[in-house]
This record gives sequence, C-alpha cells and structure tokens, in this order.
Amino acid sequence: MVELREFEPADGRLLATWVDGPVELWRWSGKNFSWPLDEQQLAAYAAESATPLRRSWMAVDPRDGRAVGHASVRVDAAAAGGRLGRVLVAPEARGKGFGAAMVAGVLTRAFGELGLERVELGVWDDNAAAVRLYEGLGFVCDHVLRDVTQHAGRSWSAMQMSMRRSSWEAGASSGLS
Ligand SMILES: CC(C)(COP(=O)(O)OP(=O)(O)OC[C@H]1O[C@@H](n2cnc3c(N)ncnc32)[C@H](O)[C@@H]1OP(=O)(O)O)[C@@H](O)C(=O)NCCC(=O)NCCS
Repeated sequence: MVELREFEPADGRLLATWVDGPVELWRWSGKNFSWPLDEQQLAAYAAESATPLRRSWMAVDPRDGRAVGHASVRVDAAAAGGRLGRVLVAPEARGKGFGAAMVAGVLTRAFGELGLERVELGVWDDNAAAVRLYEGLGFVCDHVLRDVTQHAGRSWSAMQMSMRRSSWEAGASSGLS
C-alpha cells in the first residue's frame, strides 16, 4: 500500500508543512524539535539520517507517487536495537491506513536489512491514533513514564513500547502484520 524511499534533505520542507503548530510538533517529536521547525533543525536531522546512527524514510503512495508519510529509526548497532520515531502522516492522508502500512514497512526493514532484534518507541499516552497503530502492529507497552514532563501548561505521560524480532516474524507468518 505504500513504498518507502530514503529521506532526503529536500524532503524537510514537506515535513514542515505537515506540522501546523507547536502542539502538533510536540505530539510528533517531543523534545527532539522546537517550534518553529526551521531549515537548520531539518538540515541537522537530514545530516544525522545520512549516518549509520539513523535511517529515515518517506512513505510514497504508489498510485500517484505522492509522499504521504515519514518515519525514522535511531540505530544502536552494538545492542542490535532501534528506536522508532518521527512517525508522521500528511494531514490529508490520515485515517486511510498509510501510517500502519508505513510502520509495517519500516519494521520489515528494521528486522530485515538492519538486522535488529528489538525496536522500541515512546508515544504520549493520549495519542489514541498512534497508540492504536502501534498496538495493531504488535507493539507491547513495557511501562509508562507517568507525568514525565511539563509542556504547554500540562503534564505529559509517555508510553514506552517495544517489539522483538520474534514477535514481528510470528505476526508476519500468521498474516497479522
Ligand atoms: C498517528 C498517525 C501516524 C497515524 O497515521 P494514520 O495513517 O492516520 O493511521 P492509520 O490510518 O494507519 O490507522 C492506524 C490505526 O489507528 C486508528 N486510528 C486512526 N486515526 C485514529 C484516531 N484519530 N483516533 C483513534 N484511532 C485512530 C485506525 O483506525 C487504525 O486502527 P485499526 O487498524 O484498528 O482500525 C497520524 O495520525 C499522525 O501523523 N499523527 C500526527 C503525528 C503523530 O502523532 N505521530 C506519532 C508520534 S508517536
């Protein structure tokens, strides 16, 4: 349903148009970016994505070649682990299955060509769409960092979720993922 291609520096501008304010930016990336999402931050992100420490992709709708999503994995090669992040679907493309298809594609690569044994992530506990997406693919909540930070006048709790290669492969072979 989606194809993945490598994230390139020129894609940064498109990402910025998908995040329409500071709260959206916070929901998407927590402390990793600050508002406004400017070229300097995006260039640094693109530069990191060009190193072995991070792999970042754009998801493309094969029917028209339009970019519809973005996701990234920070790689800890020594631990054979990765942290999935920056999961974002273009606002007009949400709710159509692109997010789930994109993350499934990322996991196929993470457990395949990247050779990872475990992929983890953090998601704000009130982000219903993201939590449902991750749980639907087989991520399990390991623990919740309750009220872990204050931002925009309220406290935020972060679910820490993970998936092991064996779970992904079991789901894939049963046709669940
Ligand atoms: C979270 C996000 C990536 C989901 O992408 P998406 O393409 O809309 O998701 P999908 O259409 O693939 O749906 C995935 C699941 O979430 C559910 N879902 C989608 N939107 C939902 C919503 N607003 N509320 C509750 N569930 C929702 C879908 O029903 C589906 O579950 P199902 O398969 O059991 O029916 C997208 O909403 C987004 O970019 N949000 C802003 C950035 C963000 O929050 N990123 C995550 C940071 S951790």
